[in-house]
Amino acid sequence: MKLIYQNMLSFLLIIVTTISIIGYSEIGYARNQAYTQNYQRMESYANSLGNLAEADSQNGTALLSNNFLNQLEYVLRGDDAHLRIFNDKNEQIYPKTKARIQLSQEVFTTLKNGQEIRIQNNHNENSPISSTKDAYTGVLVPWMNGKNLVGIVWIGSRVKHVERPILMAKRNLLRALLITVAVGLLLSFIISYYSTKRIKRLSRATQKVASGNFNVQIEHKDSDEIDQLAENFNKMVQALKQSNEEVKAQEERRDQFMADAAHEMRTPLTTINGILEGLQYDAIPEDSKPKSIALMQRETKRLIRLVNENLDYEKIRNNQIMLVKTNFNATIILHDLKSQLKQNAAKANDELVVEAPDQLPIYADRDRFTQVMVNLVQNAIQFTHDGKIIISGKRIEHGTQLSVKDNGIGMSKNQTKYIFERFFKADPSRARMGTGESGLGLAIVSSLIKQHGGKIEVFSAPGKGSTFTVTFYDKGYEQFVAKN
Ligand SMILES: Nc1ncnc2c1ncn2[C@@H]1O[C@H](COP(=O)(O)OP(=O)(O)OP(=O)(O)O)[C@@H](O)[C@H]1O
Ligand SMILES: [Mg+2]
Repeated sequence: MKLIYQNMLSFLLIIVTTISIIGYSEIGYARNQAYTQNYQRMESYANSLGNLAEADSQNGTALLSNNFLNQLEYVLRGDDAHLRIFNDKNEQIYPKTKARIQLSQEVFTTLKNGQEIRIQNNHNENSPISSTKDAYTGVLVPWMNGKNLVGIVWIGSRVKHVERPILMAKRNLLRALLITVAVGLLLSFIISYYSTKRIKRLSRATQKVASGNFNVQIEHKDSDEIDQLAENFNKMVQALKQSNEEVKAQEERRDQFMADAAHEMRTPLTTINGILEGLQYDAIPEDSKPKSIALMQRETKRLIRLVNENLDYEKIRNNQIMLVKTNFNATIILHDLKSQLKQNAAKANDELVVEAPDQLPIYADRDRFTQVMVNLVQNAIQFTHDGKIIISGKRIEHGTQLSVKDNGIGMSKNQTKYIFERFFKADPSRARMGTGESGLGLAIVSSLIKQHGGKIEVFSAPGKGSTFTVTFYDKGYEQFVAKN
């Protein structure tokens, strides 16, 4: 069943139940009220008659003259009431018809004790309203003179006078029920329509999201649960949009990586292929052959290095390499590094300086730390000519900080953003200037440092030089180890 009909049905059920409960108690009250009024009316007739009878007995006349009672009965009949009078011996003295009755002994004793009796729905044959099956009310009132019974009056009335207000109440109730149901149905339709409209809107928005449109946002106030649902829906769509963009970006990066890797390999392979073809067709002069073979060897080595570095990078990225972290003196490594790379620096006419205390404790994997520093110093040499490269180290709180500062060509802010990405070269035409040329060095450095729980920062300005600063933290103070 549609939600709107469900809502309307529940509205309807509530209305009908409420009206029925109210109606039931209202009719009960009206009936009670009508009976009570009827009794009171007849009791007051009986009491007035009693007073008259008392006056008569004091005057010495017989109990109310027959003529007076006939006239009274006539008046009462207009009110649909009937009258019987008994004397103190339980003899019916009015009306003086042949079909006189006697009250049961039990009833008579109660009356004799001065108590009134109310009769309701007396259908027996002795009823003063003959053989009717209608409901009936009557009162039996004793006339007392002190403690002595003087007579008894029985006034009875057809119940239709009692039932009439009840019937009226029923009719009114039915009318109220019909009107309330009509108004209720209309109102419930409007309310249900309004709320189902909001749900339908949510449903339409969900369909859009399901079909890949993440630019859906639902307007909402802050009033009820559906608004909360809409708010959460908006948040969900935002999150989906972000992760979708992330997935797309990852796909793009993967495509870019494949293209870059193919490009990186194509150059040495083309060179090797060219030389091989030259050798095959004897197109290379004899004296150039050793040079060509040496070039082929260099290119092959470059390819091997490229593949190895890529594998290394993937391993680091996937946390497949095991770091063997120990405490050692970093200064020793820095000096080793200087003597190792001195020649390279001299080729570029660079001065290489180590500025570090004799004792510089560091907590890291010794080989990987060396790898990081070699990469940074090689880069500095690669991009600095006729300059000065300072390798410095110092202790900071809970860690050791090392920096490699050069006064070479530097980079723009935009370039520094991407240098840690694989295959990135700020200026591809410079790639063959020095030692490094694959664009993998910094990607490996940054992954290694991340896996150490350390950090790397770069400050650079074009034409002025660059400073790379790496921080290795002491045991127990490493930062969050990221997985990428
Ligand atoms: N000290 C530096 N001064 C100026 N540019 C730098 C410096 N270090 C890195 N770069 C820039 O960042 C890029 C990426 O460096 P990275 O070490 O990752 O690659 P690479 O040196 O080109 O190749 P390799 O994989 O052989 O190291 C470099 O190509 C260069 O443009
Ligand atoms: Mg490099």
